[in-house]
Amino acid sequence: MKVRESGMPDEGYWEGFFEVDEILKTLQLTANTGDVVDFGCGYGTFTIPAARIVSGTIHAIDIEKEMVERTIERAGKEGLFNLKAVVRDFVAEGTGLPEQSADYVMLFNILHAELPEVMLADSYRILVKGGKLTVIHWNYDPDTPRGPPMEIRPRPEQIIAWTESAGFELLPPGIINLPPYHYGLIFSRP
Ligand SMILES: C[S@@+](CC[C@H](N)C(=O)[O-])C[C@H]1O[C@@H](n2cnc3c(N)ncnc32)[C@H](O)[C@@H]1O
Repeated sequence: MKVRESGMPDEGYWEGFFEVDEILKTLQLTANTGDVVDFGCGYGTFTIPAARIVSGTIHAIDIEKEMVERTIERAGKEGLFNLKAVVRDFVAEGTGLPEQSADYVMLFNILHAELPEVMLADSYRILVKGGKLTVIHWNYDPDTPRGPPMEIRPRPEQIIAWTESAGFELLPPGIINLPPYHYGLIFSRP
């Protein structure tokens, strides 16, 4: 089931909302990071820069074939060989990745889903102990130029509550401002 309000606008417009390299650095993605899983990769906005940085493989999953194709195309143009991108419904089927096989999970602009707990439970399952779960989402502010309707837009405190219920621990510094329109969170799988 495609997550509500998860359709994408034009690629250039979407990518104007993020300082991607700064966000990944702030969320502690480094050359020492091993395998990464990107839930809902979209155009590969974060997937491709992450693939440039990490030493492991990036598993990019999206329900839309066009999104997966675009992400693969971008990796090909850059000669990045550490990307595995698949069309898959991670709400209905999960990621299908082995237990405790990933070091880093990205849940970016997706936790306004009907069933956020499904993604969080699968993230917990696939992450190694000590692995990181990172989240970004639109500020809880009706004046952002885009983002889910306020009725379904989660506040950071809500995401922290869901994620802690799934067994994760919030790492310092807590709620991180990612200007101009987003916030970020870093969790550890104990
Ligand atoms: C709002 S976009 C965010 C894309 C990317 N994470 C980013 O921040 O640039 C959400 C993406 O999740 C995908 N998606 C929605 N529901 C999904 C599902 N059930 N399984 C896999 N992908 C899904 C959409 O097709 C879309 O590309």
